[in-house]
Amino acid sequence: MSRSAHPAGPRHADVLPEGRSAGSTAPPADLNALDPRVWAQTVRRTPEGAVTVGGIDVRKLAHEFGTPAYVLDETDFRARCRAWRDAFGADADVFYAGKAFLCRAVVRWLHEEGLNLDVCSGGELATALGAGMPAERIALHGNNKSQDEIERAVGAGVGRIVLDSFQEIVRVAHTAARLGVRQRVQLRVTVGVEAHTHEFIATAHEDQKFGLALAEGQAAEAVRRVLQLDSLELTGIHSHIGSQIFDMAGFEVSARRVVGLLAEVRDEHGIELPEIDLGGGLGIAYTSEDDPAEPHDIAKALRDIVTRECEGAALAVPRLSVEPGRAIVGPTAFTLYEVGTLKELEGLRTYVSVDGGMSDNIRTALYDAEYSVALVSRSSPAPPMLSRVVGKHCESGDIVVRDAFLPADLGPGDLLAVPATGAYCRSMASNYNHALRPPVVAVRDGAARVIVRRETEEDLLRLDVG
Ligand code: LLP
Repeated sequence: MSRSAHPAGPRHADVLPEGRSAGSTAPPADLNALDPRVWAQTVRRTPEGAVTVGGIDVRKLAHEFGTPAYVLDETDFRARCRAWRDAFGADADVFYAGKAFLCRAVVRWLHEEGLNLDVCSGGELATALGAGMPAERIALHGNNKSQDEIERAVGAGVGRIVLDSFQEIVRVAHTAARLGVRQRVQLRVTVGVEAHTHEFIATAHEDQKFGLALAEGQAAEAVRRVLQLDSLELTGIHSHIGSQIFDMAGFEVSARRVVGLLAEVRDEHGIELPEIDLGGGLGIAYTSEDDPAEPHDIAKALRDIVTRECEGAALAVPRLSVEPGRAIVGPTAFTLYEVGTLKELEGLRTYVSVDGGMSDNIRTALYDAEYSVALVSRSSPAPPMLSRVVGKHCESGDIVVRDAFLPADLGPGDLLAVPATGAYCRSMASNYNHALRPPVVAVRDGAARVIVRRETEEDLLRLDVG
């Protein structure tokens, strides 16, 4: 995200330092090198020049499954799940945020690797339950859950509903009472921190739609109301401060304020709430400029912060949970495109058009996000060419990678891959211009299989019933 995209910072919020450097404009030393921080774990360039993932040549993947396609490294996905689970250990819970990318195969992998799942819509809930995630390991989020979503979640027995508003406290309480259950709930609070990221994905400053503000006393009032309702069991407080965050300072402020509320609750009601959830939002490397922390270090930092704050407030340390989405799935996938046309603007840049675009990755257009890109169907000895990788949609903002160096001998038919597209690309994909959303192909140990198939024109026309 460019610096210019950042808002000046709202009032009532502590603005934290930006944890991200601006993209470099110098060409990399070796255009054929693949930075392991940006690429999925099993991606390799073979001595012969092409790129493989999970032991499979990307040219074979393109031939078999077509382009554009999201290619997901299942080995890497599972390894990241285990890294997060092991880093947080048995006395904490990791909820994968399904909004980053969800399908049945992913639900099964999460289940097998011992993670829980955060869902934020009826569709995500149906996917989770349909693929066998035990309901008690599911948390339901959302700032405007429908009555139907609430009923399905309570009816299924989800382990946690994160309440977001005063109205919802009443709705969930009535639903649970009617269904004869005591629903475990957390309250989502906004702690007044603006994690320095793009405005649309920063969520804990107070001038935004999510949660109950701590500063205005809304959160304390919400606790009072929930505690009076027999059909709700208040287990803890939730805070999510934003996304693509590199700096732990935001979590520190958030934990301090959440623990402060726990202390207030103890003082006012004589109860120590047993859980806190610090949300997701941990950043990943989209380019070599980004340097994200490892799950182990993140877990240690969060535990230390929470323990310290609880000691200060003379509270028992509550059970901690976190909700990483991007940090698990983001780096595990790349989007494979075929180059169609090139347009050279002498002395400026070359526009490289690929067979997808803003319909499969809206993040560049929406957040000014930065991505990397590489020629993957062969290596090239050619000098670097300043390029802009663009899609095939009918608008000039249809940019996939704003500034990238690609080999000057690039031509139609070459395959390009854009790494770190596992999160918020397929899940935010659209049918703009009646584009068909690409498949997700999972690779593991030399085998590839489609886990989400490519849309067909029939799929599109099926909805058009006029
Ligand atoms: N928990 C809650 C309550 C959230 O709202 C989110 C993300 C997460 C966890 C997971 O955050 P993550 O670890 O993936 O950053 N479309 C944007 C991101 C929106 C995130 C919304 N909430 C993007 O493409 O960057």
